[in-house]
Amino acid sequence: MKGLELQQYNKNIIRALLSLKLIEKETPKPQDKEVLIKMYASPVNPSDIAFMQGGYNIVKSLPSIMGFEGAGIVIDTGENAKEFLGKKVSCFVQEDADGTWADFVITKKYNVIPLLDDMDMDQAAALAVNPFTAAGLMEQANCEKGTALILTAAGGQVARFCRDIAKERGVRTINIVRKDETLEKLKAGGVEFVLNEQDDDFPEKLKEISKKVKICSAFDAVGGELTGKIFNILPDGANLILYGGLSNKPVCGLDNLKIIFNKNKLYGFSLPDWIKSKIDTGEFYGISEKIQKKFIEGTFKTEIRKSVKLKDAINGIRDYISNMSKGKILLKP
Ligand SMILES: NC(=O)c1ccc[n+]([C@@H]2O[C@H](COP(=O)([O-])OP(=O)(O)OC[C@H]3O[C@@H](n4cnc5c(N)ncnc54)[C@H](OP(=O)(O)O)[C@@H]3O)[C@@H](O)[C@H]2O)c1
Repeated sequence: MKGLELQQYNKNIIRALLSLKLIEKETPKPQDKEVLIKMYASPVNPSDIAFMQGGYNIVKSLPSIMGFEGAGIVIDTGENAKEFLGKKVSCFVQEDADGTWADFVITKKYNVIPLLDDMDMDQAAALAVNPFTAAGLMEQANCEKGTALILTAAGGQVARFCRDIAKERGVRTINIVRKDETLEKLKAGGVEFVLNEQDDDFPEKLKEISKKVKICSAFDAVGGELTGKIFNILPDGANLILYGGLSNKPVCGLDNLKIIFNKNKLYGFSLPDWIKSKIDTGEFYGISEKIQKKFIEGTFKTEIRKSVKLKDAINGIRDYISNMSKGKILLKP
């Protein structure tokens, strides 16, 4: 099998990228509850970038093949995973083992999501992480029809799915981006409120909108000062859910009095924990079917900018980093 192996963590992303090596090794044999997936495609996500920089909560023993999610077909299984043989699947793999940026991956059957027949395989490649994250966040938002939800990194795919679900529920969104180009793109797509966090008058503009609409919640993937700016304009009782740290800066600038007197809370969201809770309650596969049906009927779509071969991954990843709002890069064997 072939795979893209990370040799060394490096805070400098260019150096980290240069330590990626396309290697060949013997394809492992699945044991017990494991499946062997012939990979179709795998996306590049912000978590992959943070992982390469040694700045993610998953730290693997290196060298290790990269990639936390993808899609493919199960071509072999251990004794206790035979029900998956021949099935098209998405997978979410975070253990200290080889990942999905490869032509074959071996994983435990509980990391696998069976796909509905009509699920498009490019879309399936980026199914396991972002759409489920949006579903989990929206479950915790507690936003009623007519209220408004703040989204940061609003040009990204999680924000896009949150907007789609919010729209279905009659919830408005206040979208925060960091580039005018992304602002214009969202406005051209019919998005109502879009602000650029880099504008000098961003805090005033945000305050102005917050007087016009009732904000119910905020989902923040950026951290740093932006979190404080948003938290401080939240109305009584509205919470901020932090689900990413794209700025690489600690959350700061929160108004103490708001925490004490206005009962605004800030807490985190972690997809693996949410998935585990849904598996424990037996809801997970039902949620998965609902999400996949949204893709099949066309209400959900991951924006995919291009697909590149594993051997061309470094250039593809550089393209992705230079403008993440343009959509995902898929790596294909
Ligand atoms: N907590 C969880 O379990 C969980 C699960 C899934 C995803 N996430 C997180 O969700 C976030 C979004 O992921 P995604 O896949 O939706 O991203 P994506 O589609 O790849 O897009 C990333 C977005 O973030 C913006 N961005 C990047 N760096 C930024 C910065 N320093 N300040 C402000 N904006 C920045 C990009 O804007 P430009 O176009 O300007 O670069 C782009 O719009 C990531 O942090 C990811 O790790 C968390």
